[in-house]
Amino acid sequence: MELSPIIAPSILASDFSRLGEEVRAIEGAADWVHVDVMDNHFVPNLTLGLPVVQSLRKATAIPFDVHLMITDPQRWAPAYAEAGAYNVTFHAEACDDPVALAKTLRAAGSKAGLAIDRDTPVEPYLELLPYLDTILIMTIKAGFGGQAFMPEMLDKVRDVRRRAKVNNLEIRIEVDGGIAADTIEQAAEAGADAFVAGTAVYGAADPAEAIRKLRGLAARAMGVA
Ligand code: DX5
Ligand code: ZN
Repeated sequence: MELSPIIAPSILASDFSRLGEEVRAIEGAADWVHVDVMDNHFVPNLTLGLPVVQSLRKATAIPFDVHLMITDPQRWAPAYAEAGAYNVTFHAEACDDPVALAKTLRAAGSKAGLAIDRDTPVEPYLELLPYLDTILIMTIKAGFGGQAFMPEMLDKVRDVRRRAKVNNLEIRIEVDGGIAADTIEQAAEAGADAFVAGTAVYGAADPAEAIRKLRGLAARAMGVA
């Protein structure tokens, strides 16, 4: 069974002084809202954390896709699940027992996601797919929005898709970084079925319309349009 595409706008590219309105602007169009948590340690950038997620949660019913770019996710990630996040993704590079953390997150009520940064090979993690709901393949180096999409990262997407097919796994394969109208189709053809888009959505004059366009392109490339 082919799944329809998930479009997850990243609020990193939105106006932080109007976060509630920015999230409401994508209601009815977005599947998830992607929340980039950066700690100025795992990545050089610093964004937002738990109190903002807790407040924003009350402003919308859209499921939250929390992307933790932080060190020590074992310590911090469960609170995001408890705050009502739909999916909580932590980085492979920051975690020495991803299966244990995935189990903890599921027990805390969220889906569990593992992120693979630009310089990390995916092969060692293919064994872990049965314990995960989401695998996020970075198509840039994690840390900043607005970077150029790296098509060579799609080999990792193909590897995951192949393994998921062979083992009949239900897992969302998410791509993050430089996803826009001119890159989403190749990501979908490689096997991605969840698409984070910051600049391409919030940089557009009409964010909801930008989402619909991305969804159409992805669905056609996935053969589910
Ligand atoms: C960067 C973040 C991304 C970022 C993507 O580390 O993980 O989610 O917001 O931004 P764009 O879509 O502009 O590349
Ligand atoms: Zn992200």
